[in-house]
Amino acid sequence: MKRNKIALIGGGQIGGNIALLAAQKELGDIIIFDIPNAEGMVKGKALDIMQLRPHDGYDAHISGTSNWEDVKDASVFIITAGIPRKPGMNREDLLEINLGIMKDVAENIKEQAPNSFVVVISNPLDAMVYAFYKVSGFPKNQVVGMAGALDSARFRTFIAMETGCSVQDVSCMVLGGHGDTMVPITRLATVGGVPLTNLVSEKRLEEIENRTRFAGGEIVKLFGTGSAYYAPAQSAIEMAESYLRDKKRVIPCASLCEGEFGIEGYFIGVPSVIGSGGVERILEFDILNEEKQALSNTLDAVKKTVKETGL
Ligand code: APR
Repeated sequence: MKRNKIALIGGGQIGGNIALLAAQKELGDIIIFDIPNAEGMVKGKALDIMQLRPHDGYDAHISGTSNWEDVKDASVFIITAGIPRKPGMNREDLLEINLGIMKDVAENIKEQAPNSFVVVISNPLDAMVYAFYKVSGFPKNQVVGMAGALDSARFRTFIAMETGCSVQDVSCMVLGGHGDTMVPITRLATVGGVPLTNLVSEKRLEEIENRTRFAGGEIVKLFGTGSAYYAPAQSAIEMAESYLRDKKRVIPCASLCEGEFGIEGYFIGVPSVIGSGGVERILEFDILNEEKQALSNTLDAVKKTVKETGL
């Protein structure tokens, strides 16, 4: 059986880490694409990862390019192309620059690999994934945004830190947009099956929810020069692996809602089943009135950035 071909569009901080993780998981051969000015950088990263393989014996080939034809017929694309947030910038500030880049990327992917599964990471995420979908004309199951996977991983991390229990046993989800209006569904969070609400006080839970909402910004502030990359890279890998290995994992992702949770025509973070069919299903569940209100607020924020794309 031929190896999968995985194309990373953008080989900066997140793209470089995705390449490393994908190689270590032997998800397939990896091609890191970037602009001509950064071609040397991505070729260098590829070669560096190639030279790491002998230690653990990963069978994956990694290469760098700035030529679109090299990503022809890739099965998965992970897009980080664009500029990251700088201190003081919110994700929406990035819109204009990254929208132009996303339009170009969507046209090229449509031409090179119309049947691929595409994971968008570039920010502002909710608008970028919408822009990719509109410009490429891809079916909705082939396009997804990476946001909830990361936001939920951050929420799980803070819950594990608070309870002193293994992060592996923390189960929870964060829905909605990838911004300050995201919606942690705290009442359904569990630690080894025990409701989190029985373990942590309401006041602390609120503080943890807030830290989750601003977790990206916390890292931007600490770095001073860009945004997080290790956890975003791993979150995208979880999604790509579920697709490539048909794992049918349930991951909160920015999927196109067509009526689910009362949302029509927008990509927003909802529990999504990812398998060989891409986004195969959205798992809808009964939400409380206050969660409905929170989702409606996050939807307003998503609509606002999507409107700014003019698409
Ligand atoms: N085509 C391909 N790559 C591009 C293009 C383009 N048109 N324009 C820019 N890039 C590349 C840059 O050259 C750079 O290597 O995208 C890469 C982005 O990498 P970083 O600047 O290191 O940013 P990173 O931290 O990886 O974040 C990427 O993900 O989470 C979001 O907000 C984040 O939008 C940002 C994206």
